[in-house]
Amino acid sequence: MTPPPHSSDARPTATATRDERRRLALLDLVRGCTFDDFLFSPQFSVVETRDPNVIDLTCRVSEHLVLNRPILSANMDTVTRAPMAIVQAEEGGLGIIDRGFRPGDIDSQVREVEIVKRTQHGIIPDPYTIAVTATLGEGADLMSRSGVGTLVVVDESRKLRGLLTERDLRFVTGDLGDAPVTRRMTPLEQLVVHTGPISADEAELVMIERKIKKLPLVDEHGVLLGLITAKDILKQKRLPFATRDRQGRLRVGAAIGAKGDYLDRAAELIKAGVDVIVIDIAHGHSAVMAQAVDEFRARFGDFELIAGNVATADGTRFLAERGVNGIKVGIGPGGGCTTRINTSFGVPQLQALVECRVALEEAGSSIPMIADGGVRRDGSLAEALLFGADCVMLGSAFAGTQETPGEIIHKSVLLPESQKVVKVPFKVLRGMASLGAIKDRLDVEDADIIDLQTLGAEGLEISVPLGGSARPVFHEMIKHLCSSISYGGARSLSELRQVFWDQPDRYLVKLSAAARRESYER
Ligand code: XMP
Repeated sequence: MTPPPHSSDARPTATATRDERRRLALLDLVRGCTFDDFLFSPQFSVVETRDPNVIDLTCRVSEHLVLNRPILSANMDTVTRAPMAIVQAEEGGLGIIDRGFRPGDIDSQVREVEIVKRTQHGIIPDPYTIAVTATLGEGADLMSRSGVGTLVVVDESRKLRGLLTERDLRFVTGDLGDAPVTRRMTPLEQLVVHTGPISADEAELVMIERKIKKLPLVDEHGVLLGLITAKDILKQKRLPFATRDRQGRLRVGAAIGAKGDYLDRAAELIKAGVDVIVIDIAHGHSAVMAQAVDEFRARFGDFELIAGNVATADGTRFLAERGVNGIKVGIGPGGGCTTRINTSFGVPQLQALVECRVALEEAGSSIPMIADGGVRRDGSLAEALLFGADCVMLGSAFAGTQETPGEIIHKSVLLPESQKVVKVPFKVLRGMASLGAIKDRLDVEDADIIDLQTLGAEGLEISVPLGGSARPVFHEMIKHLCSSISYGGARSLSELRQVFWDQPDRYLVKLSAAARRESYER
C-alpha cells in the first residue's frame, strides 16, 4: 500500500484511493481492540519447513539497527541486566538495560553495558596489556582482577613484545613473582602475528593452519592493533543469528530518563560502547520529552536514539518530527502496569499499533516501531508484528527466568491435589512505576518533592514462579512465529507483513466473546 495523503483521522472521501480506504477500514476495525480480539485466517502454506534457521525474521529495531529476531527484553529492573541482555543478543534479539539505578549511580548501569560488550569479540581492539618491564606477580594480579587468561605484553610505544598466558604463570610462587614477565612469556619471535586488518574467516584459516589459539594484530611498525582468539571465532559460528556490532561484540541498549542525570548517564553509556539509547518515560508525548530529545541531539549528534512511549498518531508524529531513530509504542498494556486502572488513559495495543503505523506511513517516515507490552501468549507476537510493529519488547514473558535480576524468594503454596503445603521458589516482576521500583531508585519524572504517597504508583509487583533459562522461552516464541508465517502463506516475516497490509480482509477474523473463549481460554 502506498501512504495515503490525508490524516488517519479523516473519513474516506469519494476521491480516496483503494489503499486509503483499506487503511481507514483497518483503523475502524481495530478501534478499541487488542490482541485477543482477533485471529488470522489460515492461508495456503508455501514454506517447506518452519525451521527458524531457514525462515527470514530480519527486522529493524531503529533506523540503523537490524536484528535477526524481532524480540527485545524490556528495560525493567526485574527483567534486563547483563545476563538477560547477553541471552537476547546471542539469540538475535536485543536487551535494553533498565534505568532503575539511583540518580547519580551511573557506574552500575555502565558496568552492565561493559559486561555485555566484553562477552564476545570478533577482534578485541583493546586487549588487556602488561608492560614488558612488569613482574610475573603483577601479571598474575591483572589476570585475576580482569578474569582474562591472556595478557599482551607491550613496550612503552605499545609495540608487541609477547604473550603471557595463565599457563605461563603455573607454578609461579615466591621469588619468581618478582621476576620479569619476559622470563615466562612467549616472545614475539615465537608468535604468529598478523600485520594489518584481517577478517574473522581469514583469521580462522591462519589459526587452523598454524595451530594457534591467539592471533595478535599489529600495524607495519609492530604496534598492537588487537587480538583475535579461537574461542571468540567459535562463538561467532555457534551463534549465527547473534546481534553483533562491527567489531563482533554483542549489541546492547540502555534506557535513560528525561530529567536529572540523564545526559551524563547517556554520555557514560555511550563511552562504554552502548549501541542504542532509549529515552523511556511513561508519557512520551510530552514537553519533557521534547526537551530531552532536543538536548540529547544537541549533545550527542545523531547517536542512535529510541524514544517512547506513545500510543497515538499525534504522539508518533511528535517523536518522528523530533528526529528519533525508533519509536516505542504502548501506553498501559504491560503485564506489570496499572496506568489504565489508575488513570483511565491508554490505548488498546492493537489500535495503538495500527494508528501509529498509519501515522508514520502518512508522514512518509520509515522510522521503525517497537510494540511494547501486553504480549501474554506467543501468538500475540505475530499479531504485534502484523499490525504495525517492526519488533516487540517483552517483560513478563521473561519474568522468573534465571537471567532476570533479583533475589529468589520461597513462598508456601498449597497443592490442591494433596492439600500439602510446599515451599516454591519465586522471583519478583515489578512495574517500573510500582511503588517498590520508585522507592528503590527515587527517580521521579513528574514531581519535585519526593513524596511517595502523592506519586501515584502505576505499576504492580507480582511474584512469578522461578523458571529455567530465558533461552528456551525465546526459542519457543521464535518457533511459533515461524509457524505463524507458514499459516499466513508467506516465506518470511517481511513478506507476511506486506501481504497482510495489502489485503487485511483476507486475514482478519474479529472474534465474538464465544469465539474468544474458544480461541484463547484454556
Ligand atoms: P509486558 O506485558 O511484556 O510489558 O510485561 C512490558 C512493558 O510494560 C511497561 N511497564 C510499565 N508500564 N507502569 C506502566 O504503565 C509500570 O510500572 C510499568 N513497568 C513496565 C514497559 O513499557 C515494559 O516494557
